[in-house]
Amino acid sequence: MKKLLQFLIVLSVFNVLPFGQAQAEQRSTHNAQSLKDTFAKDFLVGVSLNPRNVRNAAEQDLIRQQFNSVTCENVMKPKEIHPSANEWKWEEADRIANFCRENGIKMRGHCLVWHNQFSDWMLYDEMGNFVDKEVFYARLKDHIQKVMTRYKDVIYAWDVVNEAMSDGGPNPYRESKLYQLCGDEFIAKAFQFAREADPNAILFYNDYNECDPRKSKNIYNMVLKMRSEGVPIDGIGMQGHYNIYGPTVEELDAALSLYAPLVEHIHVTELDVRVNREMGGQLRFSQEGLAISDSVQNLHAQQYERLFKTFRKYRDKIDCVTFWNLHDGCSWLGARNYPLLFDASLQPKPAYFRLVDKK
Ligand code: G3I
Repeated sequence: MKKLLQFLIVLSVFNVLPFGQAQAEQRSTHNAQSLKDTFAKDFLVGVSLNPRNVRNAAEQDLIRQQFNSVTCENVMKPKEIHPSANEWKWEEADRIANFCRENGIKMRGHCLVWHNQFSDWMLYDEMGNFVDKEVFYARLKDHIQKVMTRYKDVIYAWDVVNEAMSDGGPNPYRESKLYQLCGDEFIAKAFQFAREADPNAILFYNDYNECDPRKSKNIYNMVLKMRSEGVPIDGIGMQGHYNIYGPTVEELDAALSLYAPLVEHIHVTELDVRVNREMGGQLRFSQEGLAISDSVQNLHAQQYERLFKTFRKYRDKIDCVTFWNLHDGCSWLGARNYPLLFDASLQPKPAYFRLVDKK
């Protein structure tokens, strides 16, 4: 019998049998340190949630056990919470906010201005033509005032403007409807309105591909310009939609060393690590049907370990690292991209133990 077990272990080490996986899966979070406790001296550890997560008892337990910051994945976005001029949909956002209030968990607000999932009605008249930008600004100010006031007791930081920089081309700015109407002035106005609405909230500019040399330089130049004009951008949100191949430690370090001297706060706002070469806020590959080998799991765990080692190096500026979604089963990337620390059955994966196990 012992010979058979030894033979099986040898097979698993040589990746013939997913034995390693079984061992990792048999370990539960109960006999391991939580994420929030592991990084208690470094930064908050957050998670983005959808309303189903806070309706599910087992998921509620995992949230309370592991995280001390929460972001709404979708329900606080303009289109979801304010779909038309006189229509507000507070219910699902209140559900997540009340869960956080009841459990003493702080929240990040996401987001006030974005070219996607936006309240497009703010930009147009009844004929479908662009309104005068002062009309747009008045509508935007009212929106920001109402949303921030409702949650100012539980939300400590806001992604005020999301993804306003382009991914290529001569114009560093994304040529969205917002930019077409206002140029980059809408960024300044949004931060000004947010500061007025809640002077205590930490205000972030948030973007993806933030380690890309061209884009990071453009983000840096935009924030530098805005701050020099008195625009209250307190922090830079690095979304962190990464993969097992990148960013490398050198690329992440280069971006952090660029941003750190510029702002008071850096947050990693939407962390996930997919098992293919795609990155950023878009999703093209869904990996359907591809089994995840032990060696890929190992690469996944190693990448998370490298990322957190670098985040810790910048702990004087990074004060929150948020995972985008609770587990692989509710990830925007789909479970087969294998992006998070917990699988669809809420079981911790090798990457989880690589982060929490004492070295
Ligand atoms: O609310 C509608 C619902 O009424 C409708 O029945 C349903 C069916 O189509 O769609 C629902 O809207 C979906 C929305 O999520 C809410 O669930 C949209 O189709 C869907 O596209 C949207 O996806 C979200 C995506 O942002 C939109 O771009 C993802 O869940 C969310 O994870 C993702 O998050 C973004 C961050 O906000 C910014 N950075 C990139 C990141 C990933 O794209």
